[in-house]
Amino acid sequence: MMQGVRPTDSMVERRWVLAVFCAANLAYLVYDALRFHPLPLLVLLGRVGMELVLATALVLLGKPHPPEWSHLPLLRTACAMSLLGWFAIVVGAGGTTSAYFAMVPAFPLIYVAAFPEDPVGALIAGALDLVGGLVLLEAEGAAAGQLGEWASIAFFLGGAAYIGGVLARRRVARELALEKAGREAVEQLATSEKRRAQSERLALVGRLAAGVAHEINNPLSYLRSNLAWLQSDAGPASEAESREALDDSLAGVTRIAQIVSDLNAFAREVPDALEDCDPGDVIGEALRLVSLRVDRVARLIQRIDEPLPSIRVPRRRLVQALVNLLLNAAEAVERGARPAPGETRWIRIEARRDGEAVEFEVEDNGPGLDLPVREHLFEPFFTTKGLRGTGLGLAVSRENVERCGGSLDAGTGREGGALFTIRIPLAAASATPA
Ligand SMILES: Nc1ncnc2c1ncn2[C@@H]1O[C@H](COP(=O)(O)OP(=O)(O)OP(=O)(O)O)[C@@H](O)[C@H]1O
Ligand SMILES: [Mg+2]
Repeated sequence: MMQGVRPTDSMVERRWVLAVFCAANLAYLVYDALRFHPLPLLVLLGRVGMELVLATALVLLGKPHPPEWSHLPLLRTACAMSLLGWFAIVVGAGGTTSAYFAMVPAFPLIYVAAFPEDPVGALIAGALDLVGGLVLLEAEGAAAGQLGEWASIAFFLGGAAYIGGVLARRRVARELALEKAGREAVEQLATSEKRRAQSERLALVGRLAAGVAHEINNPLSYLRSNLAWLQSDAGPASEAESREALDDSLAGVTRIAQIVSDLNAFAREVPDALEDCDPGDVIGEALRLVSLRVDRVARLIQRIDEPLPSIRVPRRRLVQALVNLLLNAAEAVERGARPAPGETRWIRIEARRDGEAVEFEVEDNGPGLDLPVREHLFEPFFTTKGLRGTGLGLAVSRENVERCGGSLDAGTGREGGALFTIRIPLAAASATPA
């Protein structure tokens, strides 16, 4: 079979063509029977022979075949035998003077029109035309000029059919190549779509895992510091100090437990529980969690306007956001230039009422936010800390604040350091859905 031709479709088409030829031949038989009185034996034999050949080809084409089977030899044989039958009809119908003789040179054209994938078959039909016609003309004693004319006609029509077949075959091959390329492109698209969905899922899982590691790392680091301090010689001088360090450590353990239950809640899509919170208490909790880290590197300035209205938010999310901002501030002042004599590194945390909202500010006098940094600040995985940072702190903080119904923005403080502002509208009575 011609390479690339789909067997089922093309075979069905070819069988249809053969069926039409069979029907046409039968109609001719009826016509001949009406026209000739009596019907010449050669015409009858030619018609019946052609019918048998075409019907046999039709049946054989419909049989199941192995994939490497080629239908072309069958078609060529059917064509050659039909032509033989046609010559018998021509002879029976009166020889070269019969109108049926005019049909002989058309055989290659009919063949290539019906089976465009086989120009060689058309060439064979042309050659048989040429020989058969010459034999017939010669037998009838035709002049040499007539033989020459016949040869040129058979040669020309056979050649034209062959060229037409070659061109048609090329067109079919081009169409098949295009169709194949289209199919492959669609398959590739489907595969890459599957990969994209899979990598998105993986990225989400990765983000969650990294976020959890990040959040557990914070309480773990101050737990470690607390325990080391309790154990060291420079440790607590009084029972009150020990109790405070133990309280902080307990808060850290609680925080870790909270994170694990957060993860569970996330997996089960449990909505955030809203609590009425005093902004001062929220700051107090956040500071307790980071105090060891912050106290080591900067002077902490705390300002809480009194009285402040309480806000109804998922408390742990707000605490978590403030913790992240304070840790970033501690890392920034530590990273910044050493302060000149008389100057100090400081971190300021403040809560105040601003119209119908409560605003929290975290400011430091570190190196501040360069424009290129500010452009990507809240993007997940953006970090300037190399392997020491995950780049999730601010992305997670903004998400947490938004879950509190508020907003988190970055700016520049009075001394050029970073200034982060959390704004929680008092009207935000409920958190945005998870
Ligand atoms: N107070 C700040 N001063 C200067 N730069 C800051 C400050 N806070 C954040 N940044 C910049 O924003 C980047 C992103 O901060 P983010 O908290 O998202 O990630 P990270 O701190 O780098 O990593 P992680 O929080 O996971 O440890 C930081 O790498 C830093 O360059
Ligand atoms: Mg951070």
